[in-house]
Amino acid sequence: MIFQNYIASTRSLDELVGAAFDGLRIDFVDQARAMAFLAPLKHKSPITFQFYEHCLRTGLVALAAATHLQMSRQSTVCLFLSGLLHDIGKDSVPLSVLGKMEPWVAEDYAALRPHPMDAYRRLVDVFPDVADVVVRHHRFQPHAYPDELPPLSGAMEAGLVESLAGVISLVDLYDSLHRVHDRHHAPTRRTGEQIRQCMLEIRPEQAALTRQFYEAGLFTTVLV
Ligand SMILES: [Fe+2]
Ligand SMILES: [Fe+2]
Repeated sequence: MIFQNYIASTRSLDELVGAAFDGLRIDFVDQARAMAFLAPLKHKSPITFQFYEHCLRTGLVALAAATHLQMSRQSTVCLFLSGLLHDIGKDSVPLSVLGKMEPWVAEDYAALRPHPMDAYRRLVDVFPDVADVVVRHHRFQPHAYPDELPPLSGAMEAGLVESLAGVISLVDLYDSLHRVHDRHHAPTRRTGEQIRQCMLEIRPEQAALTRQFYEAGLFTTVLV
């Protein structure tokens, strides 16, 4: 399983994320906490490592989105950390499911469904605002999950949490469409333009934001 790259930089993803932490003046304790949440994905197996890098890219693009949308510093930090940590719960999904190349069956989808609540439970006492966003990152799609949401635990109002979660879900989808082995189909390598078309078809209700992100250069059709 590999992802096609769209980030044109000579620096590694870890270096880019380190620079983002510093640019946002996130203190070292919180930086260490965030990276500790990602450590199981990073170290468990080559399969989970792919999701570690997916999380780093999602965080970086989410940060660019927050900057483009001129969000407050608090929302920008929350959006960046939410992208970075949105899939930490996938370290509990069996590797036989995460790395499966054949079409998924009902049991495989069932194994994936706990990961947003799993992440929420880990994050809620450390980054409560981030936990509120992360638990919603699969709520903007057909067959959304989880079925029931926990009450808001952070300080952000419900509308802001929803809008941040909507951005994360869009950025998450954008990066996921760059996966060469799509879990729904046989191995596939989409062009950047095909990915743009998929974004618009899969999320018609978010088409305006998708177009805005492409026009602003946050999303690109150029693969490197
Ligand atoms: Fe997810
Ligand atoms: Fe994801």
